[in-house]
Amino acid sequence: MTETIIIDTDPGHDDAFAILLALASPELEVLGLTTVAGNVPLATVSANARRIVELAGRPDIPVFPGADRPLLRPAMHAHDVHGDMGINGHDWPPPRHPPEGRHALDWMVEALEAAADHSVSLVPLGPQTNLGLLLRRAPDLARRKLRRIVAMGGAYFQGGNYAPAAEFNILVDPEAAAIVFGAGIELVAVPIDCTNLALTPESWIPDLLALGSETGRACAGMMRFFQESGNRMHGTTTRPLHDAVAMAYLLWPELFTGRLCNVEIETASELSLGSTVVDWFGRTPRPRNCLWITGCDAATMYARMLQRLATLP
Ligand code: RIB
Ligand code: CA
Repeated sequence: MTETIIIDTDPGHDDAFAILLALASPELEVLGLTTVAGNVPLATVSANARRIVELAGRPDIPVFPGADRPLLRPAMHAHDVHGDMGINGHDWPPPRHPPEGRHALDWMVEALEAAADHSVSLVPLGPQTNLGLLLRRAPDLARRKLRRIVAMGGAYFQGGNYAPAAEFNILVDPEAAAIVFGAGIELVAVPIDCTNLALTPESWIPDLLALGSETGRACAGMMRFFQESGNRMHGTTTRPLHDAVAMAYLLWPELFTGRLCNVEIETASELSLGSTVVDWFGRTPRPRNCLWITGCDAATMYARMLQRLATLP
């Protein structure tokens, strides 16, 4: 039983691994990628998305640029983590084909109109601006045609990674996240509560190089760059591939643990803007709108991920 997905993304090193994993997995049918300003600006994440699908040998996968800024707030980027071009660490050629000329929202609406009921899953791996816009523009269509939303984002037990109480994807566009979390559509969140604990193995870079492929070389180079800043900041020796962990949830949910909870987004407080407030102990009557993932078997997950990456050119 394949799952048809649209990946909404801001590549971004961990986005790159997530996209490659999806394209290497027959369980997933990727309708297309939509891009959103996040780790780096929109034009760069869109060119990066093209680079990644071409690296995977899938130039047929369309990339549709979406929002170039959050719904209400100024754009925020993460060059300190992802570098100036967003997937630094590999000598990337320019993409052979440009992103599509159509706006992501127009394409998403058309794709959902053509889909069967509850047949398409959205996988947001960056700020949720595009999803917020979709749910504002076509709420009934989204509720009828979407199967579920599996999002990388949020922080509760771990604390924030880009603000004391907020994870980057939610912090950049809290208003969009509030729309998504309040939409009443089946929602799985893979927050840093889970991903921070899912560190890549110490052998990850040599394992990637040993694949002997361009994909292996690109992933090894990206990982070396990505973990250098993170290791310096956190005093670690390896780093988690947040978005790839979220994509792995779609493939191997049995490796993950979590709880169906009420999760709300803070959009007012300057002190804790963008925080994901998780009613883990059910202390409120608020609806349990989100499966909040808190753990996974990281060793098994990355071993399986490596096997999938090994199938790419
Ligand atoms: O906090 C981690 C998230 O922010 C990941 O999606 C990473 O790519 C950045 O967008
Ligand atoms: Ca991302």
